[in-house]
Amino acid sequence: MKIVMLGGPGAGKGTQAKQIAAKFNIPHISTGDIFRANIKNGTELGKKAKGYMDQGLLVPDELTCDLVVDRIAQDDAKDGYVLDGFPRTIPQAEALTKALNARGEALDYAIDIEVPDENIVKRMGGRRACLGCGATYHLMFNPPKKDGICDVCGKELILRDDDKPETVQKRLNVYHDQTQPLIQYYSEAGILKEVDGTKDINEVFDAIVLILEG
Ligand code: AP5
Ligand code: MG
Repeated sequence: MKIVMLGGPGAGKGTQAKQIAAKFNIPHISTGDIFRANIKNGTELGKKAKGYMDQGLLVPDELTCDLVVDRIAQDDAKDGYVLDGFPRTIPQAEALTKALNARGEALDYAIDIEVPDENIVKRMGGRRACLGCGATYHLMFNPPKKDGICDVCGKELILRDDDKPETVQKRLNVYHDQTQPLIQYYSEAGILKEVDGTKDINEVFDAIVLILEG
């Protein structure tokens, strides 16, 4: 099953993608997590990506597309995957379609998690992320068992640099300008499914499972 997750910053793409990956036994591929891991490890890619990310801007397509096209060609992705945070622009979506077509493949679902901007701004300040394994928590809606420590890998949880309110607003603007057009792109491709992302985390997951098993 080949799935892309759509939705604004903080809509819950990562939260849901992790659960989908676990349930359907496919890899969760998050470009945001890949960039953050590269920043943490001080790689050339990380150095290039950091400036854009800290400002709430998109990393250029030329640094992003090949990375994903290579990743989905790996062995663990042969039965499918859930892409989180990619594609994020029309050229990225076209690059993905082209790479899949070349292998005689196609996406099965584009799941759009819909959350109004007002809810997102409220959510982001409470998010805590694990730099070790990419797990995501929320101080109120999805707290870790032990304060400040990841349930999954035991590493320390952080507030992401790009979760400051002014950067969140910038990311929302970038989302509306550059990423929202993908909703129409995948609607025209006939694979768009929309879910209400304002419901609680388990209800959103149940709605997604219904779509994927339906
Ligand atoms: P990325 O890491 O993808 O960030 P994003 O799209 O802004 O999305 P987030 O990770 O912030 O949110 P999410 O939807 O995953 O929500 P989450 O599940 O954490 O990208 C970061 C940056 O990298 C970009 O700005 C860009 O610079 C760069 N980048 C990445 N991919 C790129 C690409 N393809 N091209 C160019 N640049 C790229 O949930 C948010 C919070 O809400 C959590 O605390 C969670 O616990 C909580 N929550 C989740 N669901 C619910 C719910 N239903 N109710 C209440 N709380 C909830
Ligand atoms: Mg995420």
